[in-house]
Amino acid sequence: MEWHNDWYKRMSFYQIWVRSFADGNGDGIGDLYGVYDKLEYIRSLGVDGIWFSPLYPSPNADYGYDISDYRDIHPEYGTLEQFKKVLHKAHDLGLKVIMDLVVNHTSDEHPWFLESRKGKDNPYSDYYIWRDKPNNWDSLFEGKAWEYDKVRGQYYLHIFAKKQPDLNMDNPKVREEVKNIMRFWLDMGVDGFREDVINFISKKEGLPNGLPFLPAVNGMPYYKDGPHIHEYMAEFREVCKEYDCFQIGEGPMTTVQSAMKYLTGPTKSLDMMFSFDHMMADCIYTEYVHRPFSLVKLKRAFTKWQKALAGKGWCSLYLENHDHPRIISRYGSVHYWRESGTMLAASFLFQQGTPFIYQGQEIGMTNIRLHSIDDYVDVSTKNNYHSYHLKDTIERRLKRIHLSSRDSSRTPVQWDATRYAGFSKVKPWFYVNPNYRKINVAAEEKDPDSILNFYRKCLALRKQSKTLIYGEYKEYFPKDPNIYMYERSLGDIRYLIICSFSKLPVKVHFPENYADRKGQLMLCNYPDGPQVMADSLRERAHQEVSLLAAEHGMFRPYETRVYRFRERTQRS
Ligand code: NOJ
Repeated sequence: MEWHNDWYKRMSFYQIWVRSFADGNGDGIGDLYGVYDKLEYIRSLGVDGIWFSPLYPSPNADYGYDISDYRDIHPEYGTLEQFKKVLHKAHDLGLKVIMDLVVNHTSDEHPWFLESRKGKDNPYSDYYIWRDKPNNWDSLFEGKAWEYDKVRGQYYLHIFAKKQPDLNMDNPKVREEVKNIMRFWLDMGVDGFREDVINFISKKEGLPNGLPFLPAVNGMPYYKDGPHIHEYMAEFREVCKEYDCFQIGEGPMTTVQSAMKYLTGPTKSLDMMFSFDHMMADCIYTEYVHRPFSLVKLKRAFTKWQKALAGKGWCSLYLENHDHPRIISRYGSVHYWRESGTMLAASFLFQQGTPFIYQGQEIGMTNIRLHSIDDYVDVSTKNNYHSYHLKDTIERRLKRIHLSSRDSSRTPVQWDATRYAGFSKVKPWFYVNPNYRKINVAAEEKDPDSILNFYRKCLALRKQSKTLIYGEYKEYFPKDPNIYMYERSLGDIRYLIICSFSKLPVKVHFPENYADRKGQLMLCNYPDGPQVMADSLRERAHQEVSLLAAEHGMFRPYETRVYRFRERTQRS
């Protein structure tokens, strides 16, 4: 029987990083009790699924991405029973649930590692990558990629933090473990997996030295898309085929060309990948090197992926997750908070692909500014501060951390204007952004023009339109430094999405092929509609208007509009 698991194409997901989502049991830490109570809210956004960042027991060296037990729930977040309650309620509400599958590495407190370090005769000896002499690879999170273990008398590889030893995926027993972990959760009823740094799981034989002049990423050519990756991925895919399950792989630094091998053709092993190109429009490899935001770079990345996958594979769409700072602080403007937050929503939600919205993104949460590096908690932020740009002053280093830290996406979700932002009744485990009195769910629920309600409108529009889901993507004016304009078309329907990334008013030129078309304005993020045509539009909302008339108008700071056109026959 042919396998049809393309339900995910019509969906949108909401990502929960549970520790900061909602505290249901009053200990200052987000948990599954809090999630249970907020499921109706999540549904109200118009999303159809939830991706949970790791919920498993973990010493929290990397907040859940260092797992010490793959088959349980971290006691801080609840119990397996509570997870099942969340899962069933989510399903009753029509929400799918996908789990994070983190199998490039475990915690060094995982029983496999505790056994493995005991010695070469131990049955778990080859579960990890041990060497007498390390190579020159750097880790991405904490100094060199090798740590000496006194118990075993050898070095183990850790591409991430020291407490995250890499599993040896070349060992068939490890792959069996992974498959059994997948079955464990699938048997419980989860709908799929987001697979952490999955393109790193196969390492080149011999682990050759990397180029010495590439700090942090010098080993990457030898562990990214390694020699056996597609064999291993095929094995995991077989498990998913036993269920109607869906897989999205995280692909740090992946190129379109290498992603195609995971997403299309005989080696297809994933339904989608999280790519990073569009997250580097203001930096290189997220935290390490900053550069001024360039809309042209962002558009180039968007369009490259849209075009490469058209008709062949499927894209994931995202602007935020737990690994990146908040998008308004990066690609928008906190001074035009509402305008840029809504515009950014339209800039990605109408592309072809499955949107992922990260907790707090839908209300426009922004970066937090902490006073000292000691106030930050993320291992990679601390590493960045202590290991790079050491000649910079403390102020400059902190400024860079403020721009780039993952901690900005990990502050408690701002539910209302009460103490601790309604996240918890007691002091939360991490700082609440002081702007919570203005930026919070309760306030935005009441405001029809809020960022929250704009997300709802965008998701509703997307859901009812085959064109916005399956239509062809085309970009106009790719070199324009202020405007991102893209079209989606299917049959006789076309949508034109126009996004201004400028703080200043800008004149928009419409494509020639739109000159004599009449369309409906479906969405605009300025409550009074387009400036020049405001009067006519207020009266004629959703009636046809000519783009030619709009041509004489200016786009206000961060203005966005979505037009819909129906092709006319000669006679009509
Ligand atoms: C990617 C995850 O998204 C990130 O949070 C984590 O630190 C690394 N992988 C290592 O697991």
